Amino acid sequence: MRILSGIQPSGKLHLGNYFGMMRPAIELQEQGEALYFIADLHALTTVRDPAALRNYTRELAIDFLACGLDPARACFFRQSDVPAVTELAWILSTVTPMGLLERCHSYKDKTARGLAASHGLFAYPVLMAADILLYDSDLVPVGRDQKQHLEVTRDLAIKVNELYGDVFKLPEPSIRADTALVPGLDGAKMSKSYGNTIEIFEEEKVLKKKIMGIKTDSTPVEEPKPTEDSAILGLYKLMAGEGDYAAMVEAFRAGGTGYGDFKKALFAATWEYFAPMRARRAELLADPGQVDEVLRAGAEKANALAGPVMARVRRAVGLA
Ligand code: ADP
Ligand code: TRP
Repeated sequence: MRILSGIQPSGKLHLGNYFGMMRPAIELQEQGEALYFIADLHALTTVRDPAALRNYTRELAIDFLACGLDPARACFFRQSDVPAVTELAWILSTVTPMGLLERCHSYKDKTARGLAASHGLFAYPVLMAADILLYDSDLVPVGRDQKQHLEVTRDLAIKVNELYGDVFKLPEPSIRADTALVPGLDGAKMSKSYGNTIEIFEEEKVLKKKIMGIKTDSTPVEEPKPTEDSAILGLYKLMAGEGDYAAMVEAFRAGGTGYGDFKKALFAATWEYFAPMRARRAELLADPGQVDEVLRAGAEKANALAGPVMARVRRAVGLA
């Protein structure tokens, strides 16, 4: 089984990215041939500062490795190091109905938020389909917000197969129900674009301050607190042990504990959960050559895997 996923280098890694995409991807690397990449071509649709793009890319590579991506098991590379992906994106775009892209939420959301309505932003799902189809991927672990893009990918694969014969394998999304939507500081979906993120490699003081700033209601200390839709509980569940989580739910219901105390417990759990990753990250930061070598080797392998698929596509459509 071939497992593939990508993540854009468009900001610092936050809890939503980690639990929505990274941790499932890392767990899956044990179960098949995994390919994970940094979607730098996609990030160009929103990051316009070259120095920032370089930094985000490098930091994301370090963070992914620190979080447990094992380069001995998974092929780890930068999207732009495999030029065939843009060729495949073009070929796919020639069979992509405009209506299919016009229906995509992510384009509508991004332009509604004021991002420039560029062709790249519009065609984003086509490049994503190319990412997935170029490596004959079977399974794609992503957060729920990427579900529609997986549907577009399957639609395009089916379309090519109808037009040109059996060219592509149909990939399946893998979306874990338990972490499909990680809540942010305000209780809404955690996302860079909502400014409600908790970065996992934040400095201790900053992290604590952020967590203490989680939005809560005005229930007095002595009264029971609502457990439904609580960002504190939603986040605590991801990082605390089962017993600790159950105890916090109980304390919410019992009343007598203020939100400040719950937030302190959440901070402690978060800090502890990421301690091993922080240690590994410090090692990687001290040895930059190691990361370069992982990405170089990853690019070589990814290009080797893409080659035969691309040759198959070129033959099928009449370019070869
Ligand atoms: P952002 O919304 O902060 O811009 P991205 O869109 O770059 O994050 O998401 C990168 C990956 O992390 C995707 O697979 C996405 O599904 C996942 N992800 C991001 N935020 C969350 C969240 N709040 N809950 C679950 N998964 C998330
Ligand atoms: N669009 C994804 C995101 O914003 C990143 C991505 C690009 C991706 N290409 C991919 C994810 C291919 C999975 C497979 O998070």
